[in-house]
Amino acid sequence: MKIKFVILTLAVVGLTFCKSKKGSTETAAATPVVKEELAADLKTSAEARYPGVASADILEGQKLYTGKCGKCHELFAVDYKTEEKWPKIMDWMAPKANMDDAQKQKTLKYILAARDIKVKK
Ligand code: HEC
Repeated sequence: MKIKFVILTLAVVGLTFCKSKKGSTETAAATPVVKEELAADLKTSAEARYPGVASADILEGQKLYTGKCGKCHELFAVDYKTEEKWPKIMDWMAPKANMDDAQKQKTLKYILAARDIKVKK
């Protein structure tokens, strides 16, 4: 009887653990891994949209987005909003994320360049 109880407890704890683990894995999957270098496809996409853009700006935008925009709610997918809506969203959200104007612009450029990749595929 005692053993059964222990097994049941372990099963419940195990299930709870797996569930929460699953949750955190999903969050991790939704958060792109930010590398020190701009991904090649992102670089190509950004240059197509903003000729002559500095890769460092897009990389910074990516870091800002992943670092600051998922704090109060989930980090939304870059194709969550249309191209027309994102600038308005950024006007609205940048102050909440304590971004200055330059950071806001870089983040917006990153979002739209990354969005192009997702939408065109
Ligand atoms: C301080 C908290 C906070 C931060 C930081 C923040 N947001 Fe938000 N965001 C909110 C809240 C609150 C709402 C919901 C507003 C409402 O619906 O009235 C929201 C809504 C949104 C929505 C609209 C969701 C929908 O379904 O229409 C988007 C998109 C969004 N945020 C993107 C961003 C981006 C991009 C950043 C980074 C620049 C960001 N948020 C940073 C608090 C935050």
